[in-house]
Amino acid sequence: MSPTPPPAAPTPSASQGFSWPLAMLLAGCGLILSLLVSVYWQAASSREALDDLQARSRHEDLLDAVYLPLLEAESSVRGYLLNHNPVYLGPYQESAQQARKALGALRSDLADQPAFRQRLLRLTDLVERKRAVLEEALVHGTLPEVHSASGGPGKQAMEEIRVLVGELRDDLASAHDRRVLDSFASFSRSRMMNIALCVAALGLLLVLFVSMRKQERMRRQLDEILQREKAELESEVAQRTAELSALASYLTNTREAEQARLARELHDELGALLTAAKLDTGWIARKLPPEVKAPLQDRFDRLQDTLNQGIAIKRRVVTDLRPPLLGELGLVDALNTYLDNNAGDLQIETELPADLPELRAPVALALFRIAQEALNNVHKHAHAHKVTLSLSIDGDDVVLRIEDDGRGFDASTRKFGSHGLAGMRHRVQMFAGRFTLRSAAGRGTVVEARVPTRAALAA
Ligand SMILES: Nc1ncnc2c1ncn2[C@@H]1O[C@H](COP(=O)(O)OP(=O)(O)OP(=O)(O)O)[C@@H](O)[C@H]1O
Ligand SMILES: [Mg+2]
Repeated sequence: MSPTPPPAAPTPSASQGFSWPLAMLLAGCGLILSLLVSVYWQAASSREALDDLQARSRHEDLLDAVYLPLLEAESSVRGYLLNHNPVYLGPYQESAQQARKALGALRSDLADQPAFRQRLLRLTDLVERKRAVLEEALVHGTLPEVHSASGGPGKQAMEEIRVLVGELRDDLASAHDRRVLDSFASFSRSRMMNIALCVAALGLLLVLFVSMRKQERMRRQLDEILQREKAELESEVAQRTAELSALASYLTNTREAEQARLARELHDELGALLTAAKLDTGWIARKLPPEVKAPLQDRFDRLQDTLNQGIAIKRRVVTDLRPPLLGELGLVDALNTYLDNNAGDLQIETELPADLPELRAPVALALFRIAQEALNNVHKHAHAHKVTLSLSIDGDDVVLRIEDDGRGFDASTRKFGSHGLAGMRHRVQMFAGRFTLRSAAGRGTVVEARVPTRAALAA
């Protein structure tokens, strides 16, 4: 089955993937900062308006505190001059102090406004003049204006003070009104700005929401496509694995059957021929007269040797092709015989139970082949001194274990072109068993094949 090309996935473009969120983040930060500045500005305008209202009322109070004490001082001096009672002079002195203090406060408050500075100086002069007139009246015991047709300097000063205080009051009021109006204008400007910024923030949130929905939809689509492709791939891999496994099983079985057939033919046909030839040679040698046989004796002996070697070779080939005794005596004896004949320089220890239940023929053959390949590997690769081979029933499994004390290898890597280990694994898996290989450089190797008893034991 050829892999179908996956449908084109909606891939996010570079601008969607990077610039959009960044641009939105920057825009959001900008909006929040502007909103903060605008709110601060609005609060400052309100505060300014309030301060101005407070200042206006304070200045009006101060102007009153200049004018009213003067009137009080004048009446207190008049009272004294009429009654000559010093009690009347108390309010005079207090009110003079009050007027001076109020004037000082006004001057310092309005020091930065030249329009008022000059007039306040003039007011100070007038207040001092009025005070001087009252002082003089106290000294002379009479008010100067009593004798004057124009009302005298005291009255003039008082009149001028009244007019000046009135002017100052009006001008201060209109200056304060102007400032309050300015503050209100700036307050409403910043209110408009706040509204605009809030609308922009809402718009941004909306755009963000829409783009998140879009991204979410794209992610879901991508997930679905990936899931679909993964499922297709997994089923394809599973199918291929099953096909390969079936093919490997077929090849293994076919090879075993072919080897068995060859072994049978070699044993039956070639074995019979060689035995017959050996018997015939012996018969001829016995029948020939000694004078004929004597010169041929060497040839006869060589022929006998050659036939014996042929029979031995045939026996070895047959043994290699089909494990002897496996069918007749069972796995344990077949393994014992095999190990006796193939130990080489190795010290081999076996733990083979004499009372092992009879195994099914294909399982016995598979376990025998695994032991054979494991021992071959030890001879070929391990440089080991000792091998331990054990066969046991462990729980629900028949377990074959071959352990060597050789140089070991990195069991996580696979060698290309090597099939021994893969063949062992496959033979175990054919019976739903488990194959384990444990090895590390310098630590020897352990090969373990577990076949479930329900698959391994003969019924
Ligand atoms: N008992 C062992 N000790 C050390 N190395 C081993 C042992 N068994 C296997 N190996 C390592 O694992 C490799 C793979 O072994 P495997 O039996 O699969 O292939 P092979 O023996 O090289 O070739 P073949 O296909 O003829 O069996 C070996 O080449 C060897 O390096
Ligand atoms: Mg091998």
